Amino acid sequence: MTESSIWDQVLDYSHRPNPYPLYQEMRKTPVSQLPDGAYLVSTYAEIVSLLHDPRVSSDLSNNPHALAMAAEAAGVRGAEESIEAAAAAEAEGDGEVEGEGGRPMSKTFLLMDPPDHDRMRRLAMRHFGPPNSPRRIADLEPKMLQLVTDLIDAMEGKERIDFVEDLAYPFPVSVICELLGVPDEDKARFRVWVDMALQSTDPSLDPETQKARGEEAGKELNAFMSELVAAHQENPGTDMLSAMATDDGPEGRMTTEELVSVGLLLLIAGHETTVNLISNGALTLLRHPEVLQRLRDDPDLAIPMVEELLRYEPPVHFVPFRTALADIEVAGTTIPEGSAITLVLGAGNRDPGHVSDPDNFVPERENNEHLGFGGGIHMCFGAPLARLEAQVALTEMARRLQNPRLVTDPPPYRISPILRGPLHLEMDIDGIR
Ligand code: HEM
Repeated sequence: MTESSIWDQVLDYSHRPNPYPLYQEMRKTPVSQLPDGAYLVSTYAEIVSLLHDPRVSSDLSNNPHALAMAAEAAGVRGAEESIEAAAAAEAEGDGEVEGEGGRPMSKTFLLMDPPDHDRMRRLAMRHFGPPNSPRRIADLEPKMLQLVTDLIDAMEGKERIDFVEDLAYPFPVSVICELLGVPDEDKARFRVWVDMALQSTDPSLDPETQKARGEEAGKELNAFMSELVAAHQENPGTDMLSAMATDDGPEGRMTTEELVSVGLLLLIAGHETTVNLISNGALTLLRHPEVLQRLRDDPDLAIPMVEELLRYEPPVHFVPFRTALADIEVAGTTIPEGSAITLVLGAGNRDPGHVSDPDNFVPERENNEHLGFGGGIHMCFGAPLARLEAQVALTEMARRLQNPRLVTDPPPYRISPILRGPLHLEMDIDGIR
């Protein structure tokens, strides 16, 4: 197989349940070039070195492929906003952001380079974790347990559940809403727009419909977050959005535009990814009943097991749209300045040059250095929160669902090859404890 035909197959929906044999082929050429000029990097050490390389940019305005997509979508919006739309299609699902009166909003820090990236990340991080907010995540744990308990209680009397709809989706969405201070009643509205934003990346829809859905979702999400930010500025509570909106820290107060952009990034990034970690985790446990039993007997196994899941079945399979700002030599190949680069995290995670027995799920694996959260300056901001959510959800699943059995294996998958996970995960159960 040529490298480009391997890649075509990775993108093809029929390979969504098991892309790993294709990744194995791909790793035979650690750095390869596709017919459109973009470079693919698929081995662990090479991905890590590029994630840490300051000559690799995350700013889409440097990226020839993002610019080409933006040009295609141009007309209604300015180029920068169209680039953001392209990112929505390819990155963590961050919707295009249009400011009040059509002004482009400040970009999301996922897609910024230093020094702007570092400043925005610092401003947000002050209110997310230690040392300034040492307990923000730990304090959410009782609430997390309550949410999962309520969702499992609601399964009472059912013989068949859809683990995605009944737990893996609603749980992380409630947690991120709790963190940010999004009122309960807004969740349903919000889901419609996120679904719509995802339709903008659905290849089964015609391009016009995709574009229209993306634009509508972007507008709605932006209006929603602007309203929410205004409400928190006027009437702050104890949530993270209020903390960011009222902080006069050493770097000054965040502007309204910055708050809207960070709020949306957290709301969306902290959402589909965690859903997929929990549902990929449940699927893996049902395929390994002995591990499910061990987790039931020893809830502490959840800590290393979630790390192993992030390696073995990661929710984010690639980081697309990086750009070389100089000629960069990797594994004997020179990636020329200006080239687009895609880092295939899902392939790197199973690189036998980095990890022994990579295709086996080993829940107590030690020194588990994986690419599940990326790496370098853009390494996942929400990692501690996502880890805790998955630990709570999967431990409670093991403890409370009686004799869970998969209805179809493999289950139906979501369309995206990037944010990969089951669309539905039907299980038969004998009841709940
Ligand atoms: C970045 C994965 C959950 C917020 C990233 C990146 C990955 C990732 C791979 C790096 C992207 C890149 O290098 O371009 C995941 C996974 C999650 C998860 C697998 C769940 C299992 C969350 C949560 C939040 C979050 C819960 C928010 C509370 C972010 C943000 C960034 C990011 C803000 C951008 C960081 C930066 O650019 O400095 N995530 N994520 N993520 N994630 Fe997550």
